[in-house]
Amino acid sequence: MTEKPKIFVTRKYSSAIEKRLTANYQPTLNLSDNPVDAAALVAGAQDAEGLLVTITDRVTKEIIDALPESVKIIATFSVGYEHIDIAAATARGIVVTNTPDVLTDATADITLLLILGAARRAAEGAAMIKDATWGRWSPEGFLGTDLKGKRLGIFGMGRIGQAVALRARAFGLGIHYHARNRLAPDLEQGAVFHDTAEELLRVADILSIHAAATPDTQHFLNAARIEQLPQGAIVINTARGSLVDESALIAALRSGKISAVGLDVYDNEPNINPAFRDLPNAFLMPHLGSATVETREAMGNCALDNLDAFFTGRVPPNVVT
Ligand code: DGY
Repeated sequence: MTEKPKIFVTRKYSSAIEKRLTANYQPTLNLSDNPVDAAALVAGAQDAEGLLVTITDRVTKEIIDALPESVKIIATFSVGYEHIDIAAATARGIVVTNTPDVLTDATADITLLLILGAARRAAEGAAMIKDATWGRWSPEGFLGTDLKGKRLGIFGMGRIGQAVALRARAFGLGIHYHARNRLAPDLEQGAVFHDTAEELLRVADILSIHAAATPDTQHFLNAARIEQLPQGAIVINTARGSLVDESALIAALRSGKISAVGLDVYDNEPNINPAFRDLPNAFLMPHLGSATVETREAMGNCALDNLDAFFTGRVPPNVVT
């Protein structure tokens, strides 16, 4: 009988996922859940045939070049894979897989939470309750903005963008979008396509970012593009922090050009720009987009399906190139 493949696992997963890992592989588990640094990743990979990584692991070219020959696959527990140098992995003949689809609904749900939280000043309201500083109800107090009749501009209309559109329609938001390719009418569902990001920005009362982090989208929302938004627009980001120039965003929140933000992702997580903490109009979450029991379980199973396919001689269902 051949030995079960050895897998180096960089984070702690649910007992069901670790049980499945242990049944089919010889995993090195991370029971403490302390993220591993570059040296620990390379050391842990010695002898391993596969790595199970996630968004807290920076799998750079230097790390990939230092991996032993035995490593043939890197499965990431995430849909995003900007933390892995795909070109370096490909050059080494290492297959990389991700976990798309299974987190679409959870991420779309949290996007709506952020839209509502930003539009209805939930951060300020919640802080008042917690600090016991709520004085009295007032006809003019804490006025937010209705969603009904406003235009939601979706930048990046893939699976998650479309799931956000579906939910947003129920709140009476008009859907506008920009993507590299226009959707077919059955997927577009009446959403208004804009040929350029700038055209989209000009109409977006609420801008929600759903594009992948790539060199092309780095700091997509910069000072010049923020200027294109309507006065008092709301900005939502559940994609990646790198798509936003945070200094420009903070300046616009201070000036009132942007009335509120709802953010789940940041540059340099978890050490976010401290200026966000002092902004009452920032409704902030700690990268919770996929954080439900069901979704994280599905992500784990998806990552394991990829590993199982690879180690039984099949093409993994979610290879990224
Ligand atoms: C992903 O899978 O890329 C998400 O950001 C994790 O929630």
